[in-house]
Amino acid sequence: MPTSPLSRSEKSRRTTDSPISYFIQKALETPSLISFAAGLVDEGSLPVSEVGTAMAELVADPTAARAALQYGSTQGLPKLREQLLQLVCVADGVRPSDVSLSVEDVCITTGSQQLLYLLGEVLFDPGDIVIAEAPSYFVYHSLLQSHGAKVLSVPMDEHGMKMDELESLLERLRRSGELSRVKVIYTVDYFQNPTGLTLARDRRSKLVELARRYSTNHRILILEDAAYRELRFSGADLPSVKRFDPTNEFVVYTSTFSKPCAPGLKTGYAIMPPDVMEPLLHLKGSHDFGSANLMQFVASRLLASGAYASHLEELREVYCRKRDLMLEALDAEFGDFPGVSWTIPAGGLYVWLTLDGIDTGPNGSLVQAGLDAGVLYVPGEFGHVPDENGRVPTNECRLCFGVATTEQIPEGIRRLRRACDTISRMSKTKKVKAEV
Ligand SMILES: Cc1ncc(COP(=O)(O)O)c(C=O)c1O
Repeated sequence: MPTSPLSRSEKSRRTTDSPISYFIQKALETPSLISFAAGLVDEGSLPVSEVGTAMAELVADPTAARAALQYGSTQGLPKLREQLLQLVCVADGVRPSDVSLSVEDVCITTGSQQLLYLLGEVLFDPGDIVIAEAPSYFVYHSLLQSHGAKVLSVPMDEHGMKMDELESLLERLRRSGELSRVKVIYTVDYFQNPTGLTLARDRRSKLVELARRYSTNHRILILEDAAYRELRFSGADLPSVKRFDPTNEFVVYTSTFSKPCAPGLKTGYAIMPPDVMEPLLHLKGSHDFGSANLMQFVASRLLASGAYASHLEELREVYCRKRDLMLEALDAEFGDFPGVSWTIPAGGLYVWLTLDGIDTGPNGSLVQAGLDAGVLYVPGEFGHVPDENGRVPTNECRLCFGVATTEQIPEGIRRLRRACDTISRMSKTKKVKAEV
């Protein structure tokens, strides 16, 4: 035991372990469990040969290999930044100059998670406010807690964050004098983690319009987390929210190679206004003075050779099949379950299941019954912040179909139904006993 206690910073004391760690640990300890919990990607389709080829080509060229093995710049490899700017602008049907963008507005990060964190460092003082969808990406919530920022949430419907509710919230904050604390509106606008829902086209321009309108004393930024954008398996791509920010003032767009390629590359990127980029690079300079250069060279080769695009085609098929298997299994197993509903995502990795009358929370009965039956999910409660009465919904589950195999998906849903039946039987027995 140390003789005297460690004197920790306030930030460190505010920062806790991710609520999902327990679930990841459980899955690792119990290989027989079918895990719909962690947002891991499909193992079988990881681009092993594509990355192998890119690496082999790189080391076969000593000049390129030496450059890749040397330190790079804080902002990232210029060629990769240019490629990513083109990727996003082509998807949005614009030229970079149409939306006031150049390669100087692009930064490479160590996963998009680093961007989320660093942007927080640029913007937040304790007590500042972030507006987010309800529910939202719970790892972002933990990060905000660490920065001392508070989350206020806006309900969603099947078209994503409700703009009328956002407007009322901004108006309430304006009246109460709290608008000055609002720094960011955060949206995971494509196949959201955790619900699988996508922000509708007309809401994208409206979102920018609202941020602009309520930016009276300072700019309220929109943080567009497009981590799942490229994993679309039905319908046409939608323009980004960034597309509706022609002066490059209001939207920070971030995405990643993790989901559409390989999380092991741990390479993300962001496009942002110049006055956000400058302080962010100062902070990134202190953090790591640049993300892994070798990974950036590999990512750049994957993009240039077309391997990235063809891998994406394959991935979309893989995930589409997995999504279909999960939806079919839900229909078969839960079709007759009272008060049940689930989302039908057009891409991404997640289905959001609502089970009226069943406590899906981390201390609720379904987690244990699920473990007994051999299946794991993420309690939906993690994605919510308590309302003014301290309450969060406790009847939702995030089901990730990324890492479970095609054999495991139907079996996992069968097990989940068995677990629900066990709970329903238990609560009926309790009720009968109470009546007696
Ligand atoms: C919505 C969202 N944003 C960001 C991330 C971070 O991903 P990475 O840092 O691997 O790019 C994740 C990872 O699951 C995510 O789901």
